[in-house]
Amino acid sequence: MIFSPGVDDIVRFRAQIVEIMGLYFDESKFATLAQILHNRMLANGFDHHQYLSWLNTNSSEEIRLLARELTVTETYFLRNIDQFNAFAEIALPQRLAFYDDNRKINVLSAACASGEEPYSMAITVHEHCAYASDRISITAFDLNPAMLQKAKRARYSTWSLRELSSELKNRWFKPDGDAFMLNDKVRNEVEFESRNLTQDALDFWSPGRFDIVFCRNVLMYFSNEQAQAAVDRIARSMAPGGYLFLGHAETLRGLSNDFHLCHSHDTFYYQRKEHITPSFIVQPQLQRWQPTASLTNDTSWIQAIQRASDRIHAIHASSPTPVAEPVTLETTSYIGESIAPDLYRVFESFQHDMTTLSPNLSPASGREGRNEPLRDFNVNEDSSLNLPPQHAHDPDDLLLKAVSLIHSGTLAAAEVTCEELLERDELNAGAHYVLALCRESAGDLDGAAVHDQTAAYLDPEFAMPRLHLGLLLRRKGERESARGHLEQAMLLLQQEDASRLLLFGGGFKREALIALCRAEFTALGEK
Ligand SMILES: C[S@@+](CC[C@H](N)C(=O)[O-])C[C@H]1O[C@@H](n2cnc3c(N)ncnc32)[C@H](O)[C@@H]1O
Repeated sequence: MIFSPGVDDIVRFRAQIVEIMGLYFDESKFATLAQILHNRMLANGFDHHQYLSWLNTNSSEEIRLLARELTVTETYFLRNIDQFNAFAEIALPQRLAFYDDNRKINVLSAACASGEEPYSMAITVHEHCAYASDRISITAFDLNPAMLQKAKRARYSTWSLRELSSELKNRWFKPDGDAFMLNDKVRNEVEFESRNLTQDALDFWSPGRFDIVFCRNVLMYFSNEQAQAAVDRIARSMAPGGYLFLGHAETLRGLSNDFHLCHSHDTFYYQRKEHITPSFIVQPQLQRWQPTASLTNDTSWIQAIQRASDRIHAIHASSPTPVAEPVTLETTSYIGESIAPDLYRVFESFQHDMTTLSPNLSPASGREGRNEPLRDFNVNEDSSLNLPPQHAHDPDDLLLKAVSLIHSGTLAAAEVTCEELLERDELNAGAHYVLALCRESAGDLDGAAVHDQTAAYLDPEFAMPRLHLGLLLRRKGERESARGHLEQAMLLLQQEDASRLLLFGGGFKREALIALCRAEFTALGEK
């Protein structure tokens, strides 16, 4: 008798899928997993216990069959064309110029699906670096056998070719019934193989082998641990100075410290550092800050923050006794237990000192039951934070210091602190946001916009850089883009972590920031 899988079986099945192919499914996909488990155990003549035990032995044919069911395979030619422009104009020429012995440049398309990505690489090589096409070798792999079969056939629908200009389509394809066949020369330039990104294979992932790697739109489906391991594997197999392209919504933040972030052609990508470390970045977690001000409609965000800070000092100067009701903060979304305890304690300490400066503010929560604040963190006369020597180089502490410098109006020092922080933690979204504020204040609106874009790319849930970018673009007269960012900021602010709002919100409460977005958005008028 065959039983339907229960929740425990599905949880076990999910864990095995993560282990074997990296893919992570949340509870909303349990019904689908149950169906697949049921189908696969019937197909193999097992009950689910037998099937799960058998799967544990890593039957590679069964894994490929499972991959057919479990993978998302959407792809098309020249997907995220900005990245192909950076590939053509930065990555390829640099890697070709790097070797003076004319040796081959190895390019990899990891998780290539039905082949559109590696074939787009080959077409790009012909279009932009035809003189060197003999020196470029393209390897592509995927786990899903149906996709590899399609890739090798190289016959594509109009939908797959939707981003190609008719010029490119005519040059590299010929009609074949209701589809298009890829030019044989291009087709023969890509080497396809079946491979699992989660598995080590020393011959394939040999040190320094690849010059350029595309690993796009696959890590987003992986568990964090498997994504870290895959990036580590890729980093080790890349030549120093080699380029890595991820999907446009994917970042290495929190996954790897082995790459420099690059920005050109309106896109982000990475360059492998000379020396790689096995350690991963531990992302600084952001802490609450006491809201101090109400909404103003300044054109310059930095002025708004400055005004909020001034208000604290004014209150402090004029009112030695409490003048307002204590601000109550939600404790439910307070800093999680597991995250950045040091920053939490520093922040609490800093907040305490700010509160002493400004008696109408009360600490968000008592200190009872918590670690003692770090007493050697103290606040300078100008209310910026003075870090003790042992914390002077810690990314979390540097970020806190940079924010406090912003609040004290010492922008040049804030900028220096952020640069120092980025030398230690290049993918720190908070540092880029603070730099955006500094650049804006220095009148460098373009520089500010780049830092906001970088912060928003590195942390897509970070609301403040979107808001700031919206305000900047409005000032620059780029109404359409400004609307987009303000709209996005409005959505993100509703979910934004309360502690992060306190740290970066310039003293404004969530509702005030949302209201600001809405007002700015409305002021921009209809499309
Ligand atoms: C959304 S497609 C991405 C295709 C292409 N890279 C792009 O960005 O257009 C994701 C691909 O990752 C593949 N994949 C998923 N897990 C994999 C693994 N563990 N090893 C190799 N490929 C995998 C899937 O089979 C699928 O073809």
